[in-house]
Amino acid sequence: MNPFRPPADAWTRRDVMRNGMASFALLCTVGAPSTLTGKKVQTSAARRAQAQSPFRPFQRDLPIMPELSPIRSTRRLDEYDVAIREGLAEILPGFQTPIYGYDGVYPGPTIVARKGRKAIVNQRNTLSFDSNVHLHGGYVPAASDGHPMDVIAPGGSFRYTYPNDQDGAFLWYHDHAHGRTAKSLYYGLVATYVLHDELERELRLPAGDYDIPLVIQDHAFNRDGSFRYAENVDLGFFGDTILVNGAVAPRMTVKRRRYRFRILNASNARGYRLALGNGRAMTQIASDGGLLAGPVRRKEIPIEPAERVEVVIDFGAYQPGTQLVLRNAGGEQTTTSIMRFDVERGGGAEEFRVPRRLRTFERLPEPNARRRWDLRLATSTGVQWRLNDRGFDPDRIDVRPRLGSTEIWQYTNPSNRIHPMHLHGMLFRMVERSSGVVHAADRGWKDTVAVQPNETVSIQPWFAPYPGRYVFHCHNLEHGDKAMMLQLEVVR
Ligand code: C2O
Ligand code: CU
Repeated sequence: MNPFRPPADAWTRRDVMRNGMASFALLCTVGAPSTLTGKKVQTSAARRAQAQSPFRPFQRDLPIMPELSPIRSTRRLDEYDVAIREGLAEILPGFQTPIYGYDGVYPGPTIVARKGRKAIVNQRNTLSFDSNVHLHGGYVPAASDGHPMDVIAPGGSFRYTYPNDQDGAFLWYHDHAHGRTAKSLYYGLVATYVLHDELERELRLPAGDYDIPLVIQDHAFNRDGSFRYAENVDLGFFGDTILVNGAVAPRMTVKRRRYRFRILNASNARGYRLALGNGRAMTQIASDGGLLAGPVRRKEIPIEPAERVEVVIDFGAYQPGTQLVLRNAGGEQTTTSIMRFDVERGGGAEEFRVPRRLRTFERLPEPNARRRWDLRLATSTGVQWRLNDRGFDPDRIDVRPRLGSTEIWQYTNPSNRIHPMHLHGMLFRMVERSSGVVHAADRGWKDTVAVQPNETVSIQPWFAPYPGRYVFHCHNLEHGDKAMMLQLEVVR
């Protein structure tokens, strides 16, 4: 047996405090970890790093996920092979952390797609338990959606077809086997999917080396460097260490020019309030489903689990030598630093810009129906989250909207937790928030919306482009697993 295997069958441990005992990271902030045991790599670099605490922010350069190479390309499509498997990742300098990963990598390899060019991804499950893959934010036929009951058994494989017939957007793919997504994502089954289109090129938005994906997750660690996880169905999991692209609060050297950052909150339950350390604004250009109508300047950008925001930062506005921290204004002591940008000299001529208008939105069909979904905790049969007092039942279809129609869905949240509500296979627009006006940055296409405690949020989903069975659920992963998820069937 692989001694590095994450504890697949030891999940049921009850939490002691908020999420188990304080993890290694918190211990390290108060005292030197002189009694480390476990599978550390014995190099002098490792010992040095250890002496300095592997959790100190800004020690490592920002890693960039590898790009997945097609095994076959034709004029119309790219085909990929991926193995879902165990792997090791050097997240803390000098330690090997056991992970589950797409091709054994954490975060997994990025799929770079083009609008109008199909992608076929053959996923092979080499793990000892069911897995599957959901392309989050994609217009995907139901058969390839990664519905929680459509799983790939150990040893099996599945051919996912992604038409890429939607506007450019920052999507992601992740595990969705029912009841264990919290652990599977936590242990590494997350990856980004960048869908490009012509418009972004015509607009001359920052591209190539100046277009950077950032995957933010919070984690906790055991003393041997392995991920620490304790289930908490009410709160969801909160870690004490921020990872960006799999490194503890890294740093990135930037030129004095514009960069586009595609930011994904892939955390189980934690929301962030992104802010620059010097209090200056960032320019948000896109949300979940792609570009906004126009850029929006924001000093603080909230991002809840599964949401994406894309920002442009113009480092030309800073002197060489400037160190600019991307902060989490909502963090606790060890979760306030996300990463740091170190501005270097030079940068060459700026070839990119951010035009005042980015896109126009099509008019949606008038809504056919109004529905209300109450988000509540049930404690009668153990701790379970519900929608209209229902939990997930794969044998029940909860709503049957017509293909091509829209409806108004009202999420009301009488609970004291935030619920990031996600709809599979299609997109929606935001209509109303009881707590205030819908922010300009939330007026584009969305696939996930966070409903705050005591808030009512109305959205207008567009049930297109494919018919079939999909799910909508809370993307606080512990909530979704237990069992805050319902089914819809889009009918002709
Ligand atoms: Cu990103 Cu059903 O999930
Ligand atoms: Cu929830």
